[in-house]
Amino acid sequence: MNGADGLEGRVAIVTGGARGIGEAIVRTLVARGAKVVVADMGVAVDGSDPDPSLAQEAAGKLGGGAVAYTEDMGIPKAAAGAVALAVEKFGGLDIIVNNAAIQRDAFLFKGNTDHWDAVVRTNLSAAYYLLAAATPVLRENAAAKRGASEGGTYGWGRIVNIVSTAAFYGNYGQAPYASAKAGLVGLTRIAALDMARVGVTSNRPTRRRRSTRSACSRPRRATSAISSPICARRSPPRSAASSSACAGAR
Ligand SMILES: NC(=O)c1ccc[n+]([C@@H]2O[C@H](COP(=O)([O-])OP(=O)(O)OC[C@H]3O[C@@H](n4cnc5c(N)ncnc54)[C@H](O)[C@@H]3O)[C@@H](O)[C@H]2O)c1
Repeated sequence: MNGADGLEGRVAIVTGGARGIGEAIVRTLVARGAKVVVADMGVAVDGSDPDPSLAQEAAGKLGGGAVAYTEDMGIPKAAAGAVALAVEKFGGLDIIVNNAAIQRDAFLFKGNTDHWDAVVRTNLSAAYYLLAAATPVLRENAAAKRGASEGGTYGWGRIVNIVSTAAFYGNYGQAPYASAKAGLVGLTRIAALDMARVGVTSNRPTRRRRSTRSACSRPRRATSAISSPICARRSPPRSAASSSACAGAR
């Protein structure tokens, strides 16, 4: 178990894993021997028109390596359901990738509080809900030395939150999106601190810009944040630049 990069036999939940960057992360994890819950409700960029067939098809292409979960991850009980599915279907949970996001851009002076609430709920609160549901399992892993070699310690568990440079530099008309991503940076640091003592790292790969949904699928940085524990767990990096480098991001 665990292979050269530590992924063989691990179990992951990847939100927004049915397309784009999330799908590429899912495919990479499965190719390296992990099992994945593809938690994706199949919505449009603004969060409308859910389509469960998207995740079902994405997971179906990966045979036994993945299973679809099509609830709205912005609802707390959906997070608990995803964790339960990972444990029931694949026997545990080691990796959380908070990747799902929506966008509802508008200049502040044309803003809409419903749009703010929807984006913050999906892009930030959903990540908190999932970590709140998953971290007790990750802590139990450490106590049980899940996946550790004979006599070894666990020392393994990964939290990866996909952020955006909009969190650091802003972007015109992206008040809810950039604010939610900035909150996700803070949540990543807290997860690193709270989970350090049980050997779970927390990183936040950063993409430079938000482009069209299908134009980019570059899982390398996100995947390397899972397979190499390069971040100092007890001392999360202080600057955006050093943190990006630490997470294997630009
Ligand atoms: N694409 C870029 O250039 C870029 C740039 C910066 C940051 N990012 C970040 O990378 C991540 C992936 O981007 P992408 O372009 O691949 O996204 P995408 O829009 O192609 O896919 C996002 C997926 O999330 C799912 N989703 C949305 N809300 C959900 C919810 N409540 N519950 C379950 N699933 C939900 C959608 O159904 C969709 O399949 C996002 O966090 C995004 O903010 C992307």
